[in-house]
Amino acid sequence: MPVNLKGRSLLTLLDFTPEEINYLLDLARDLKNKKRAGIKEKQLDGKNIVLIFDKTSTRTRCAFEVAAFDEGAHVTFLSNSQMGKKESLEDTAKVLGRFYDGIEYRGFKQETVELLAKHSGVPVWNGLTDMYHPTQILADFLTMREHINKPLNKTKLCYVGDARNNMGNSLMIGAAKMGMHFVGIAPKQLFPNQELVEKMKKTAKETGAVIEFSEDPKAVAGADAIYTDVWVSMGEEAHFEERIRLLTPYRVTMDMLKMTGNPDVIFLHCLPSFHDLETTVGREIYEKYGITEMEVSDEVFRSKHSKVFDEAENRMHTIKAVMVATL
Ligand code: CP
Ligand code: NVA
Repeated sequence: MPVNLKGRSLLTLLDFTPEEINYLLDLARDLKNKKRAGIKEKQLDGKNIVLIFDKTSTRTRCAFEVAAFDEGAHVTFLSNSQMGKKESLEDTAKVLGRFYDGIEYRGFKQETVELLAKHSGVPVWNGLTDMYHPTQILADFLTMREHINKPLNKTKLCYVGDARNNMGNSLMIGAAKMGMHFVGIAPKQLFPNQELVEKMKKTAKETGAVIEFSEDPKAVAGADAIYTDVWVSMGEEAHFEERIRLLTPYRVTMDMLKMTGNPDVIFLHCLPSFHDLETTVGREIYEKYGITEMEVSDEVFRSKHSKVFDEAENRMHTIKAVMVATL
């Protein structure tokens, strides 16, 4: 069946079939090759795109902007609009839908992207909510395809850390869809919502995926990729003390990479990352709790296993694919 994503929103990967996800990954690969070869197709010529950010961002905003510029589209960056304060989401969506061909939203509630999609009449792309981060997963899987010498449905992906955040949820969903062996490794308190896990285990039965959870860091054995994310997501800053206590045994270190038994294991992280003291937050945490690195050691972050900057670059190519496919 040919895949046609014109007019579709990307709110969560739950709404996408494995064929559609593969289509986006193939398209991203092709667009990346074209960019490297200097081929400019301007597939979004004349399109207008609005980027709404209620949370901070480096990669996602820049990926959307550069991808849009490469393809000939224009963008508006919106971070202090009337939306939700003096004007309802519904009314804002109706206005933006008249100006723009596509809307990106990053913020807190998943409901916000859903309402924007419902009322704007144009494709809406989720640039991260508390619940999901779907465009990140496309970049992660493109990076795995590039650096692991087997198809995605033969790979074992271990996500270590806060398994109930937007990244934990979205990687589990993506892995279930793509037939991967996914292991979430976290203290029980940070396992994802049981209902979502059951749903993904059902999907896994159809795709051949395996979805597992463990409290034991040794469960990384046999991993092709180890993935981690910050211990405290945007908006959860009150939880540092508790998370440091719960997650210190889950820091990704060289010893953990060795536990995989795979000398070619790759390390992935959506970024930004606390792997040294070169950030204000990192230094504040050091002064308060005496730790110099959080979710990953500086040694792993800078090692040959680490593909985090290829992954960051792939945010742009995959987001470009999402816009080209849906507009
Ligand atoms: N990975 C990611 O979404 O990065 P930003 O927060 O910088 O956009
Ligand atoms: N879980 C992180 C991801 C950042 C890209 C957060 O929501 O802050």
